Amino acid sequence: MAHLDDLIATDIHAYLRAQENKSYLRFITCGSVDDGKSTLIGRLLYDSKLIYEDQLASIEKDSKKSGTQGDKIDLALLVDGLAAEREQGITIDVAYRFFSTDKRKFIVADTPGHVQYTRNMATGASTADVAVLLIDARYGVQEQTRRHAFIASTVGIKHVVVAVNKMDIVDFDQSVYNKIDVEFREFAKDLGFSDITCIPMSALDGDNVINRSEKSEWYNGPTLLGHLETVDVDSVSMDAPFRLPVQWVNRPNLDFRGFSGTIASGTVSVGDEIIVVPSGKRSTVKEIVTMDGNREIAREDMAITLTLNTEIDISRGDIICKTDAPAEQSDQFQARIIWMSENRLFPGRQYLIKTANKTVPASISKLKHRIDINDFSEVAANTLELNEIGVATISTTAPIAFDAYTNNRNTGAFIIIDKQTNATMGAGMLDFSLRRAKNVVWQDLDVNKAARAAQKAQKPALLWFTGLSGSGKSTIANLVDKRLMDMGRHSYTLDGDNVRHGLNRDLNFSKADRIENIRRIGEVCKLMTDAGLITMASFISPYRAERQMARDLLEEGEFIEIHVNTPLEVAEKRDVKGLYARARAGEIKNFTGIDSEYQAPENAEIVIDTTAMTAEEAADHIVGYMTERGFFNIGE
Ligand code: ADX
Repeated sequence: MAHLDDLIATDIHAYLRAQENKSYLRFITCGSVDDGKSTLIGRLLYDSKLIYEDQLASIEKDSKKSGTQGDKIDLALLVDGLAAEREQGITIDVAYRFFSTDKRKFIVADTPGHVQYTRNMATGASTADVAVLLIDARYGVQEQTRRHAFIASTVGIKHVVVAVNKMDIVDFDQSVYNKIDVEFREFAKDLGFSDITCIPMSALDGDNVINRSEKSEWYNGPTLLGHLETVDVDSVSMDAPFRLPVQWVNRPNLDFRGFSGTIASGTVSVGDEIIVVPSGKRSTVKEIVTMDGNREIAREDMAITLTLNTEIDISRGDIICKTDAPAEQSDQFQARIIWMSENRLFPGRQYLIKTANKTVPASISKLKHRIDINDFSEVAANTLELNEIGVATISTTAPIAFDAYTNNRNTGAFIIIDKQTNATMGAGMLDFSLRRAKNVVWQDLDVNKAARAAQKAQKPALLWFTGLSGSGKSTIANLVDKRLMDMGRHSYTLDGDNVRHGLNRDLNFSKADRIENIRRIGEVCKLMTDAGLITMASFISPYRAERQMARDLLEEGEFIEIHVNTPLEVAEKRDVKGLYARARAGEIKNFTGIDSEYQAPENAEIVIDTTAMTAEEAADHIVGYMTERGFFNIGE
């Protein structure tokens, strides 16, 4: 920061004031591997004199050693911090860097170019004002360029810079530049960018990065830094509706109850009338407390604690709004999704959705379409694979407060998390509610589950038998059913044979179909349980996630998981239906235990070892388990 060194020395207060009054510009850089992103950022930092002397010395040394740039300094070494990245020659995470000039402060997210790392690109882009897309002048617009431009547009970036890099290699040939300029503008015309600025440059030599190059006299536009210093990004809007996603309820003693978070948009003043979404409770603002004392008014990006004039219930995950423009609430949405996992999306599977301040179980109930990155057309699809982008319907288990992403990038964004592994699977943007949760009024019938169960003098239960094909699930379930009948109980059995011939006859044995099979059965079992019945479900149900989903549909204690634990060798030797032999012969594909996995339960309520127990003994054991736990003595 050579330009400010003097000021720091002579008047530190003036320096700090100057810093404070400068606006921030957030931008991302993206491009394919080797387009020169790291070199470009290195050049910006280097030419704005942000590198310390000792860092410089070590880079000069490394440049000679790694030798990719001859005698020139390899500026990429400045940015490619991680040793692993350097070895692989790719940048693998989002790195945020800060620098400033006399006019502006900058935060740059350096995002990876390798195709697998779209997720990092989307992460970096979601807060950026400007996207700098690098294109290697020799290769022109690539698939990655389209993908990155599309993601930038999807996450709401309005300003794009096309950095046509490595112009030195093509002798600053104007026709090469023009061709790229025209091609990019043509394909990006429907992406909703408010401006596209193309700049011919050489990050390596510094042409048109900070200093205007003599080698491109034909070019009249700005340099990259010149443009970034002046581009007019929408500054914080004071008129935006007020949103405070509550991060925590602050209650240090009985006299103080505050609601803390960072203002996602708008302003709030003492005395304002507020409404809490989704509960709809109202109050007025008593105090706005911050680290630097109380304030009369607070605006976007400030971390505050609100106290209110009346005691109302507010929890983490709620959004405090002003009454004139409250956020919406819903439990069913249309959303755009960017899938970021090697494991594809399974519609119907339950994932966790995390919004600004709340995490709820949710499933992606239907995929409307996928977007073809080459021509942005909508393609019919049942799933999304790594890096694919699609539009889907999402259902959450409880209503959440939200805004459409186009209105608010904070309260309209979410990520999708795998319940079992906690890995981030995708990111998304809420478009609109498909129904207002408050319009869904469950009929509070007097004839409810408790009444139905009492009539049958039993506690409803779902006995979920899981295990390999031929393990003995259905045999044991049928015996239990008979015993219950003998005892005068009300029960019903669902198994693969009766369900796959009717309700689920459209499903086969692919992973996706098995998930859907169990999802439907889970829902049917829920209805049966609601009717007060003791239901037996006998399905291979090979995946933990779906068994958990079925469990989660019921009340605590109603779901009894029974692992019919027969080793594969034993089931295969019995081969009651002759299916194992056919699977081994390759006649049946995706056969559980052969070429399709079975995830054994980890915490089943009951484990039946069929090599040590007969089916009759197993049935007795299960009925005994239920008797002990009082399933049969209600109302008697
Ligand atoms: S699940 O995996 O979706 O839970 P389900 O229990 O409904 O399976 O059906 C399993 C029954 O279908 C097996 O007992 C067997 O009779 C038959 N079946 C036919 N093809 C397969 C297959 N590829 N894998 C497993 N079972 C199969």
